Amino acid sequence: MNNEVKSAGGLPLLLGVMGDPISQTKSPAMHGAALEAAGLAGTYVPMHVRKEQLKDAIKGIAALGFRGVNVTVPHKVDVMNYVDVVDEAAKQIGAVNTIVNDGGVLTGYNTDGIGYIRSLKEEAVADLSGKHVLVIGCGGAARGIVYALLQEKPGSVIIANRTIEKAQELADEWAHLGAISACGMEELANVLQESHIDIVVNTTSVGMYPKAGELPIPAELLSPNMVVSDLIYNPLKTELLVRAESIGCRIHNGLGMFVYQGAYAFEYWTGRPAPIEAMRTVVLNSLQV
Ligand code: ATR
Repeated sequence: MNNEVKSAGGLPLLLGVMGDPISQTKSPAMHGAALEAAGLAGTYVPMHVRKEQLKDAIKGIAALGFRGVNVTVPHKVDVMNYVDVVDEAAKQIGAVNTIVNDGGVLTGYNTDGIGYIRSLKEEAVADLSGKHVLVIGCGGAARGIVYALLQEKPGSVIIANRTIEKAQELADEWAHLGAISACGMEELANVLQESHIDIVVNTTSVGMYPKAGELPIPAELLSPNMVVSDLIYNPLKTELLVRAESIGCRIHNGLGMFVYQGAYAFEYWTGRPAPIEAMRTVVLNSLQV
């Protein structure tokens, strides 16, 4: 076993994930497989941390010599108050999902958005520059994705949301980052007729287990030239993706986002390329049992 990458004190890498609830997380299996495939000695543990314990838990990372942790629901926003440095992108997005401990200095990053974009580029659309993208929803998940997407210089980004005011606020906030606009769901048919959309991304939970079968937008609005992407990975093929595929669209599911957000975290902690296929296989197998 290669012991070059170590935690404080020369011990095997200590890694983990904090959330509430946490028992359902697939991250320990995924990162366990990644450490093994990379030949690194280390452990990745799930930690059940309640809101009122978050501050102490984060302090504990440095005290215990963890190299890093992931932070998941419901702590991604609050945790920004307890790290020493928040990376600029994470600051703009307003959420941290990965902490790196460098000699006791804790830095918070957001790998969700860049993870999604890396997955989209590697699995569906290699070059996003100039592409016209419709993003459905504008919650926390959408913020990460839209921010990372705007770094790729798309032709335009339209954010459609049930509550149009929220979409408009986000479009206004990031107007300086690119061509971004907002629309309500009832305007969607007109907007799609007028704009040539290349990629549709669902960031809402509509269609997620146990409510599989629901659609975030009417399927009639899709056309075969579109790439249709859904952040959901349970089910792996949402009703939106089933309908999109049936009319000939290229489809992309949320499994890659989960794998690549973990891949970036792994790379920040270890400085090594993440063993993507080992990570993907373990998550896929855990979904199919
Ligand atoms: P997340 O962190 O997963 O993005 P969130 O911040 O609660 O979760 O945001 C959820 C997003 O999905 C919002 O854009 C929400 O629309 P509203 O702003 O109108 O609430 C959207 N959403 C959730 N459930 C929806 C539904 N049943 N129909 C349409 N949009 C929905």
